[in-house]
Amino acid sequence: MSMAMERGSDIIRSELTTGLVNLHAVEKQARQLIERQIARVVNYPAVAQRLRQHLDETNRQEERLDKLLAQFDESRSVLKDMAMQMSANMGAIMHAAADDEILKNTFANLAFENFEIASYKSAICMAEAGSFNDVSRVLQQSLHEEEDMAGWISANVDQVTRQYLDLKSQSEKADR
Ligand SMILES: [Fe+2]
Repeated sequence: MSMAMERGSDIIRSELTTGLVNLHAVEKQARQLIERQIARVVNYPAVAQRLRQHLDETNRQEERLDKLLAQFDESRSVLKDMAMQMSANMGAIMHAAADDEILKNTFANLAFENFEIASYKSAICMAEAGSFNDVSRVLQQSLHEEEDMAGWISANVDQVTRQYLDLKSQSEKADR
């Protein structure tokens, strides 16, 4: 292997490790956001059910990243997680004060899932560039779960909005 090729593969490995560390922090944040919403939702059982399913998926995604990081450089994950935790949950906390909390959370969840999708796609690209094929396979499993979740949220925007309007017009609790 030439010096330049060796340097290239070192850089890919290092960038992929950073990508995995960031994904780990994102999943941790996702878990907290979902847990908070499950605890608060009252009148939207379909949303609660899908959130519970994705909480299970999110926990498995976090475990997958733990295992991958153990193969790379696990020690870096802890510090980064602590730094990101400061900003975690701000969205959900702010939405909790809103009359249309369920709608704002729906918008934020769709945005968050798409952030996760882009993060996984980028990490998969790095894994493939470095010929880390096992890593790519594991990440693709999580990517598919995020795409399913994003698809469900997007398809459910109308349903949740109609339900919100129905509850409002019946003077029922509509916010969450
Ligand atoms: Fe996720």
